[in-house]
Amino acid sequence: MLVLALLLAAAPPLAAQEEGESEGEWTTTPFFYWAGPVSGGNKALSILINDEEPKGRRLHITEHGGVVHVRLLLELELNHVVIAQGEKVLYERFLFYAPSYNDLLVPEEMPVYIFHTEENEAPCRRCHRLEPSSEDRRPASPAKSICYPCHHEEMGDRQRLHPTSAQWRCLICHQPGFEDSDLYPDAPVRYTVAEIAEIAVLCYKCHRQEASRFAGYEYVHGPVGEGACIFCHDPHGSAQPKFLHLNATKLCVDCHDLGEMLERPVVHPVLRKQGCTACHDPHGSNHMVQLRQEIEPLCFSCHKRMREYANNHPVNGHPTSGRPDPRDPQRSLTCVSCHNPHGSDADKLLPEEDAMMVCLDCHQMNMP
Ligand code: HEC
Ligand code: HEC
Ligand code: HEC
Ligand code: HEC
Ligand code: HEC
Ligand code: HEC
Ligand code: HEC
Ligand code: HEC
Ligand code: HEC
Ligand code: HEC
Repeated sequence: MLVLALLLAAAPPLAAQEEGESEGEWTTTPFFYWAGPVSGGNKALSILINDEEPKGRRLHITEHGGVVHVRLLLELELNHVVIAQGEKVLYERFLFYAPSYNDLLVPEEMPVYIFHTEENEAPCRRCHRLEPSSEDRRPASPAKSICYPCHHEEMGDRQRLHPTSAQWRCLICHQPGFEDSDLYPDAPVRYTVAEIAEIAVLCYKCHRQEASRFAGYEYVHGPVGEGACIFCHDPHGSAQPKFLHLNATKLCVDCHDLGEMLERPVVHPVLRKQGCTACHDPHGSNHMVQLRQEIEPLCFSCHKRMREYANNHPVNGHPTSGRPDPRDPQRSLTCVSCHNPHGSDADKLLPEEDAMMVCLDCHQMNMP
């Protein structure tokens, strides 16, 4: 009991400082931890997220030296978290969970939830090491990392880990000192990461090949040019190949609003099977709209039989390239002059069901 009293006096639990906030804060990780002394141990606690008791994997309670540790897995979007002991509310907060690549979900003006301030860390210091040393830059083993005791579940949750995180070299990207941050004006915070554009500089330090490859492209994909690697790649790791946040096609339609393309009556099967990256390079290329090849060789790479019909399709002797498109002489005639490469309302990815109407698109002026 003496221990508990001392703890309470010296180190108020997080709840004490944060009571009364209700407008909500944005957190980019579904993991949420609360730790504080609870007389009577964890059995005396009641925990609610949006008025429901979290079950199974969503709630994990441990007790270390009289301090109860609660881990919650938040739901996407708003979570009203209440931790109480009998009538007494120990902690209450509105946390809005949305991964950072999905920030469009987040209401504007919502502040970011930050844990690593001196004030928040204070009650944990008694038992946890919180000052990084030079060894923490490259720990001898994961368990030796200063971050490991509190963050290993979060990292372990990912099926594939980026090597820097697998080696717990977290400080490569996270600044160890307390710094003022626009994200959290009330107090200096630590473990912040650089501005988006500077993160790419970090990535390029190790990924030199990509740095020179991307710099050489004539057509660079928007977010790559901005250095926003982390819009698509999770810097720590993920369940997807190449540490992508989502399956590549889902990522693309998230930003491009081409989602409805996948619902059109006729969808080019490539979109569903191989995905957008079968034709577009996600980083850039030397062909317009970041295509992996020029249009005709791209189409022929799968439609091998069509090669024989080059400049002989859709009717004998009809050009398929090497001529200006009569509707827009700046552009050349290509396969996509007649076929939508993504999808269409008509058969064969044509703009019209009636082939004759397709012809009239270009020929009404020229043909009798
Ligand atoms: C009375 C000592 C004590 C205090 C105070 C304390 N912890 Fe812990 N905590 C521990 C011990 C011991 C472990 C288990 C250590 C290990 O596995 O290395 C632990 C583990 C953890 C874990 C890993 C999950 C788990 O339950 O094993 C997290 C996260 C954590 N602490 C967060 C905090 C935070 C945040 C604070 C401050 C609000 C805090 N702790 C305060 C002793 C304490
Ligand atoms: C005493 C436990 C503890 C230790 C040690 C710790 N963290 Fe945290 N950290 C937390 C908690 C609790 C949160 C908030 C909930 C969450 O994100 O899991 C957090 C959140 C974060 C965040 C999100 C921003 C923020 O401030 O909320 C970053 C980034 C972070 N930690 C990095 C690190 C790094 C890097 C290390 C090691 C150098 C580290 N942490 C060590 C407990 C700890
Ligand atoms: C390659 C750079 C890099 C390394 C290494 C790295 N991080 Fe991060 N971390 C970031 C970036 C960038 C963000 C911001 C993520 C975002 O906004 O998408 C971040 C965010 C976080 C967050 C906030 C939650 C989230 O996922 O957005 C936590 C917690 C965190 N890092 C912990 C760690 C820990 C622990 C390690 C070591 C195991 C580590 N990081 C290693 C770059 C890195
Ligand atoms: C400290 C060095 C280092 C930093 C910094 C770094 N990486 Fe890596 N990354 C590696 C290593 C090592 C590998 C594994 C070897 C490889 O495949 O290139 C890797 C692998 C990858 C892969 C998978 C490559 C493949 O072919 O499977 C991706 C994607 C990736 N990193 C993205 C990033 C992004 C995005 C950043 C910046 C947020 C970043 N990395 C920062 C060292 C680093
Ligand atoms: C629009 C999403 C997106 C952005 C932004 C992005 N990548 Fe990628 N990246 C991908 C996809 C998808 C792959 C999988 C390979 C493929 O399909 O070509 C990949 C693959 C990689 C690989 C593995 C090697 C390779 O080319 O296959 C590395 C390394 C990499 N990216 C680094 C980066 C770096 C560094 C940045 C920031 C400058 C970045 N990426 C920005 C989507 C993206
Ligand atoms: C984070 C948001 C984001 C994601 C994710 C994303 N893009 Fe983009 N994309 C952009 C932006 C921004 C531009 C530049 C828009 C502009 O200049 O009009 C762009 C441009 C393009 C262009 C060229 C469009 C044009 O008219 O020049 C293509 C093609 C493209 N993206 C395909 C993809 C594919 C394929 C993926 C998935 C691998 C993808 N994008 C993922 C944001 C994104
Ligand atoms: C079969 C190859 C192929 C696939 C698969 C493909 N595209 Fe395209 N995409 C093209 C071609 C070719 C163009 C140029 C069309 C033109 O110039 O009329 C293009 C143009 C674009 C453009 C710019 C013009 C526009 O229509 O807005 C965007 C953005 C784009 N694609 C995104 C995507 C996304 C997102 C996916 C996945 C859902 C995807 N593409 C899948 C071949 C493809
Ligand atoms: C990655 C392989 C791949 C690429 C690249 C590709 N296609 Fe396809 N395409 C397919 C598959 C598979 C089908 C469905 C099977 C079939 O009909 O051959 C298909 C179907 C079609 C159809 C409909 C055929 C029908 O009978 O309804 C048209 C038209 C078509 N593609 C045109 C194009 C054009 C134009 C391009 C270049 C912009 C292109 N394709 C690039 C794989 C590809
Ligand atoms: C001038 C318009 C036009 C151009 C250019 C064009 N097509 Fe077509 N394509 C059509 C029409 C119309 C049909 C449907 C008539 C038919 O079934 O033969 C068709 C049918 C197809 C089919 C389905 C064939 C089948 O056997 O069912 C494929 C695949 C195809 N085109 C691919 C291509 C490729 C690849 C290119 C570029 C080399 C291309 N088309 C250029 C108009 C065009
Ligand atoms: C995207 C525009 C476009 C569409 C759609 C189109 N054509 Fe053409 N067509 C052309 C161009 C360009 C030429 C070449 C004109 C020239 O040589 O000056 C051409 C030439 C022709 C010729 C003369 C071929 C030769 O031997 O010189 C015929 C016949 C023809 N088209 C029929 C059709 C028919 C039938 C359709 C519908 C199935 C069709 N076209 C659809 C653009 C188009």
